[in-house]
Amino acid sequence: MAESSTLTGAIRDIVQRHGGMPTRLLQILRDVQDRLTWLSPETLERVAEEIGISPNKVRSVAEFYSFLYTAPRGRYDILFSDNITDRMLGNRQLLHYLCDRLRVGVGKTRADGLVTVGTTSCTGMCDQGPAALVNGYTLTRLDKSRLDCIANLIESRIPLTEWPREFFEVYSNIRRADILLGRHFADGSALRATQKRGPDAIMEEMVKSGLRGQGGAGFGSANKWLSCRNAYGDVKYVVCNADEGEPGTFKDRVLMQDFADLVFEGMTLCGRIIGARQGFVYLRGEYRYMLNALKATLQQRREAGLLGEAILGDPSFNFDIEIHLGAGAYVCGEESALIESLEGKHGVPRIRPPFPTTHGYLNKPTVVNNVETFATAAKIAVEGGDWFASRGTAYSKGTKLLSVSGDCERPGIYEYPFGVTVNRVLEDCGAHNAQGIQMAGPAGHTISAKQFHRLICFEDLATGGSFMVFDQSRDILDGIRNFAHFFVHESCGFCTPCRVGTSLMRDLVDKVHTGHGTLYDLEEMRKLGRIMQVSCHCGLGQTAPNPVLDSLQEFPEAYERRLRSTAYEPAFNLNQALEEARQLTGRHDPGAYLNDEDLLVGVMP
Ligand SMILES: Cc1cc2nc3c(=O)[nH]c(=O)nc-3n(C[C@H](O)[C@H](O)[C@H](O)COP(=O)(O)O)c2cc1C
Ligand code: SF4
Repeated sequence: MAESSTLTGAIRDIVQRHGGMPTRLLQILRDVQDRLTWLSPETLERVAEEIGISPNKVRSVAEFYSFLYTAPRGRYDILFSDNITDRMLGNRQLLHYLCDRLRVGVGKTRADGLVTVGTTSCTGMCDQGPAALVNGYTLTRLDKSRLDCIANLIESRIPLTEWPREFFEVYSNIRRADILLGRHFADGSALRATQKRGPDAIMEEMVKSGLRGQGGAGFGSANKWLSCRNAYGDVKYVVCNADEGEPGTFKDRVLMQDFADLVFEGMTLCGRIIGARQGFVYLRGEYRYMLNALKATLQQRREAGLLGEAILGDPSFNFDIEIHLGAGAYVCGEESALIESLEGKHGVPRIRPPFPTTHGYLNKPTVVNNVETFATAAKIAVEGGDWFASRGTAYSKGTKLLSVSGDCERPGIYEYPFGVTVNRVLEDCGAHNAQGIQMAGPAGHTISAKQFHRLICFEDLATGGSFMVFDQSRDILDGIRNFAHFFVHESCGFCTPCRVGTSLMRDLVDKVHTGHGTLYDLEEMRKLGRIMQVSCHCGLGQTAPNPVLDSLQEFPEAYERRLRSTAYEPAFNLNQALEEARQLTGRHDPGAYLNDEDLLVGVMP
């Protein structure tokens, strides 16, 4: 009884701290989980009661996000980052090493409840992996000696606050700077320029700049701002997409860590121009380690008169920013899913149109831009649209941040004018003997050496920023398999072509990878990929087959050398799958085994 009232009291405090707002549901669940390590059915009922919403809604949100747990977890919860670049750095061996040291199975919680060890999708540390999260906080540059130390700390139940600081250190690794990263920016200068010249004049500079969204799709930023500005209604919002879930991408991490003022200034500028009073940063859960520093920066900006009420002393200029933390769902990077998540729901992409610029957060006009887009906009307000447009190509103005990782000597952040060649980037990062590049993450392009002359820009190779290098020693199919599994995990399940298609594609890739594939399977992959590209509801499913389709074209030998035969062979071995049933029922008569004809029924034309 006493325990139950303590639980209610703790939950009530947390809910009240969030103003009891249903839109804060995800943040409330995160905080409750921090306190209790997992979300039991009873806990979820209490949360629902305290907020005054349906328990089903609370449960569905809790079950949607990978970082919310509806089953008990260990006091120390370790998740190894499992991107292909982590694998290239040996994360799998380290995972098993730690599990052996702690006597716990992969993905399991130890019987005494002390520790859980598992894996998660890319944590955005590809330049300093192998990486992991412990209770949501980033661990970098793991090796056996670090893991020995971590195992001892866990066995001795040492709190994270007393673990060596260097285990949590995240380097920025800026290797090449241009106009965004290299040029000094005085905090407040974009807002002062707007105050001096007026929002219309700065909007003009945005138009002249030709800035395109840096999140990947490349939509014209000025058009987006204008559309929202002209949209009907007095209440509007600005949202910064810092979800950065694309495996291999970590440039927004560096901007948020080292250039937060610039990003916040860009958001505030946007608020001024479109007439919004409230902004949100949707920060990916994996970047939780920087949350307190970001909140402190926001507070400093309020104290400096650059945020909050009467910005720069102008009573008509009010704008504030709140940070929401994601919880491990890649699909929430898609802008309409992100808005759903901001509203406290599970992150399923909306049907579009209408677009967020007219019907966004709480159905109000909303600008959603990438971190890099806002940072760049702040610079444009100060330096002017022509200055920005003087760099880049005809249809891709300015510069682009690339997150370079994989087989190269100098992984990190490289800023180039749009139009740089792949070859130039490879040279600069010290990538010798590259066999292929994965550009723009798994959803992007897989290219082979014969394409390294191509240009990085929207006219040629468009990218949100990821640039993963694979040298000749790598098996390209390992990467493709990793991506196929990634998409199965990240599909939100809303539409059938994606939910089923990603699983079928994974099975086919697994089948070829394990040497059971046939030419028929390659053709099936092509067909399935084309269906997914045209029939999935959102960009996740539409782009999920890209790595397979590209690599079939660019690296056919990676598939063909593994083919077992040119005849049909099922991806799923039904006979083998029935073995457990045979064991359980003790049946070993001929009727308990399927013959080849049974297996082909309903499959072959
Ligand atoms: C599955 C999926 C994930 C996405 N993830 C991100 C992301 O992490 N960051 C981002 O800025 N845009 C992401 N996008 C693109 C956004 O939907 C949106 O286009 C972008 O935030 C707009 O900002 P921009 O115009 O400044 O690029 C994603 C899109 C899809 C389909
Ligand atoms: S395409 Fe995939 S991620 Fe997008 S809505 Fe459909 S199931 Fe969800």
